[in-house]
Amino acid sequence: MTYIVKDECIKCKFMDCVEVCPVDCFYEGENMLVIHPDECIDCGVCEPECPVDAIVPDTEDTPDGKWLEINSKYAELWPVITIKKEPPIDSEKYESETGKFEKFFSEKPGTGDE
Ligand code: SF4
Ligand code: F3S
Repeated sequence: MTYIVKDECIKCKFMDCVEVCPVDCFYEGENMLVIHPDECIDCGVCEPECPVDAIVPDTEDTPDGKWLEINSKYAELWPVITIKKEPPIDSEKYESETGKFEKFFSEKPGTGDE
């Protein structure tokens, strides 16, 4: 089992999650983060840190396993992030937005720890 980041993170990207992870397994895309499922030790410490509840155990994934697949794929492509940065200035605007994956998901990498 692993924890995964879902689309609540997209465009909110608060990054309160990254500094609590004991194994540094968050990876940064342009507008969301993902968790590397092979590195996550399933400690659950990050889950309550996210203000928009974007982090869940993979037992709460969609039935098709969509979010595990996205976390697995992009954790291999994006840079690691261990230090919290300033969230996007308009992040609060997207807190209750729905369908964010379809509307806004970006495959582009973030800049990681700078
Ligand atoms: Fe890191 Fe623990 Fe969260 Fe996994 S569950 S991403 S190991 S803080
Ligand atoms: Fe995203 Fe929540 Fe972390 S919005 S960056 S999963 S604190």
